[in-house]
Amino acid sequence: MSAYPINTASVPEVKAFFDPATNTISYVVKDPTSEACAVIDSVMDIDYFAGRITYDNADQIIDYIRENDLKLEWLIETHVHADHLSAAPYIQGQLGGKIGIGSQIIVVQDVFGKIFNEGTEFQRDGSQFDRLFEDGDTYTIGNLPAFAMHTPGHTPACMVHVMGDVAFAGDTLFMPDGGSARADFPGGDAGELYDSIQKVLTLPDETRLFMCHDYGPNGRDIRWETTVADEKAHNIHVGGGKTKEEFVNFRTERDAQLDMPKLIIPSLQVNMRAGEMPPADEDGRTFLKVPVNTL
Ligand SMILES: [Fe+2]
Repeated sequence: MSAYPINTASVPEVKAFFDPATNTISYVVKDPTSEACAVIDSVMDIDYFAGRITYDNADQIIDYIRENDLKLEWLIETHVHADHLSAAPYIQGQLGGKIGIGSQIIVVQDVFGKIFNEGTEFQRDGSQFDRLFEDGDTYTIGNLPAFAMHTPGHTPACMVHVMGDVAFAGDTLFMPDGGSARADFPGGDAGELYDSIQKVLTLPDETRLFMCHDYGPNGRDIRWETTVADEKAHNIHVGGGKTKEEFVNFRTERDAQLDMPKLIIPSLQVNMRAGEMPPADEDGRTFLKVPVNTL
């Protein structure tokens, strides 16, 4: 039995925004009893080859919130993404709200602070975020009860956020035919990922699960919503009673064959700063680094 404060009586409205450039799905979740809402895992657009950032994606979310007269209370990051840049500070600048992430962000900041040879001005204490969640921490979106589940494995700071009868899986799970995310980034661990997935699968069977990514395996259309019951029965990596040993062997072998995500270098530098660019130089110019032969 789970000790988490599950409350499936609350049924929030969920609006999805799919970013075809990174196959990320961002969400606006609305409290059914008020105008309060939260944004989950927003995306900033980048043309990395041109070194240019834009906000078409985030502007769609901002327009949606404004058109529906919603009040943004939270900007949740399920983890430090390695495949896209967060637009949380941009959205916060226009609509307010608090940016939250798992408290183990300090581990991620320590690891990548070293990899990117950041100076002492880069704080490794999570202070760039408004709220650091511990396992089981509760919060509200208007009257909608929410809590965070610590689900390390893909990264040390991964959290699944549960709001009423919905859960945002981050990269802890993919759709049943997509399986699971890689566990080979610095700080990742396939065994931990298996345990975290089992924890998510203790949520009630009818829990609506929303994915952070979908790649349309085997040519099917992009999908992002499933249930705990569906994952338990059909997930190709962990469903149908697959053992931890089977999972770890499979995951380790698969991860060794994967290329690095195309945007990992800019993503980590920005996302470990809660979505802010590194500080500008004295002329107001901003730069991202490329560590050679390090990742
Ligand atoms: Fe990820």
